Amino acid sequence: MKPIRTTRLLLRNWEERDRELFHRINSDPIVMEFFPFRRDRAQADAKLDELRGAIRRNGFGFAAIEIMATGQCAGFAGLSRPAGLPTFREGAVEIGWRLAPEFWGKGYATEAAQAWLAVGFGSLGLDEIVSFAVAGNSRSTAVMERIGMARDPSADFNHPGIGEDHAHLLRHVVYRLQRADWQTSL
Ligand SMILES: CC(C)(COP(=O)(O)OP(=O)(O)OC[C@H]1O[C@@H](n2cnc3c(N)ncnc32)[C@H](O)[C@@H]1OP(=O)(O)O)[C@@H](O)C(=O)NCCC(=O)NCCS
Repeated sequence: MKPIRTTRLLLRNWEERDRELFHRINSDPIVMEFFPFRRDRAQADAKLDELRGAIRRNGFGFAAIEIMATGQCAGFAGLSRPAGLPTFREGAVEIGWRLAPEFWGKGYATEAAQAWLAVGFGSLGLDEIVSFAVAGNSRSTAVMERIGMARDPSADFNHPGIGEDHAHLLRHVVYRLQRADWQTSL
């Protein structure tokens, strides 16, 4: 992908120096509150390699967020194709994000997401972008609302990858944004 500059952020593909932060945001219990798994360092490294390869192949993906003023990696945001979720049509594209806690409360996820919407509706030519989160992950649904997405309760679903041992993480809510609604909000 071509790096994207926003007011405060550089959105770019993953680099070797991001591995420690990426492991932290895959293992920290606060960050991973709404996920049924934690990744150890080897698993996080493998996931970073997977994300980096997908971004190279597709030109988009869950990409690193770098704070331009300091050069620190804060986490990720980006576009991806949700796999194995029957609630979405074939070819659907989701927007998602995850930051280390010291970068919460600064508007970075919203700023990165707005730039990714412009990529999705601009150069990728998408008609719709979706997002989903565990019902109750209000920090994430607040980002969805701030970037203009609307809740679609008819699409809410029980995540097929979540077992009975994590029943509180089963129910997911869905948000959508159509290209026409994004354009009128500019
Ligand atoms: C979801 C997540 C990325 C949201 O982070 P966040 O910091 O709440 O969201 P933003 O980066 O958009 O920041 C918005 C907050 O910064 C504040 N803010 C401060 N300065 C700001 C600025 N210059 N511009 C915009 N907002 C600013 C906003 O008022 C808002 O604060 P509030 O939550 O008190 O209302 C983060 O909580 C996270 O990584 N969670 C764990 C992973 C996760 O659950 N991911 C989603 C899975 S579906």
